Amino acid sequence: MRESGTLERTGQAKACPTQQADLHSGGACFSLPFSVLYGNKRMKRRSFLNWGTAGLVALWSAVGVSLGAVVRFLTPSVFYEPPQTFKIGTPADFSFGPPTFLAEEKIFVFRDREKGFAVANAVCTHLGCTVGYFQSDERFHCPCHGSVFAADGAVQHGPAPRPLEWFEVTLARDGQLRVDKDRAVPASYRLMV
Ligand code: FES
Repeated sequence: MRESGTLERTGQAKACPTQQADLHSGGACFSLPFSVLYGNKRMKRRSFLNWGTAGLVALWSAVGVSLGAVVRFLTPSVFYEPPQTFKIGTPADFSFGPPTFLAEEKIFVFRDREKGFAVANAVCTHLGCTVGYFQSDERFHCPCHGSVFAADGAVQHGPAPRPLEWFEVTLARDGQLRVDKDRAVPASYRLMV
């Protein structure tokens, strides 16, 4: 069995096989490891393959990112919007006198013994802050920039540009009050129950 790096006699002077190096020492051929004979070439090939693989990975990464951006651009954004029509309870749930504020729905529910129910939007028409109702002067006040609204929602003090909105309130079949924020009504609108 031949070991790499050992001298072996080849008899007559003749060209060494390509796997062996002729050391010109008495016609001896010297077997060198393949890696020594072809190492340089191998290294170049390996290095080329490494760079090629890295390039392909980078290319596919770039393609993936670009495709993701395109898909995202083409997919419509979905925004959650709470339902505009909802039930708020039965008439008996609301007392006469000062309005009831429903924080989640951002509305004031008025109940008057003679006039019935009315629902006002608690969102200020300036920049959307939530207004408060003050029984002491029977007006709405905005805590953000000082707008003041009369009891019917009319602007008494800016910077609010428009009156507060009033929403339609009806009686559902199950006896509950239903508010529809998509249906604005005049401030004089009332539901008699
Ligand atoms: S948000 Fe109400 S006054 Fe500005």
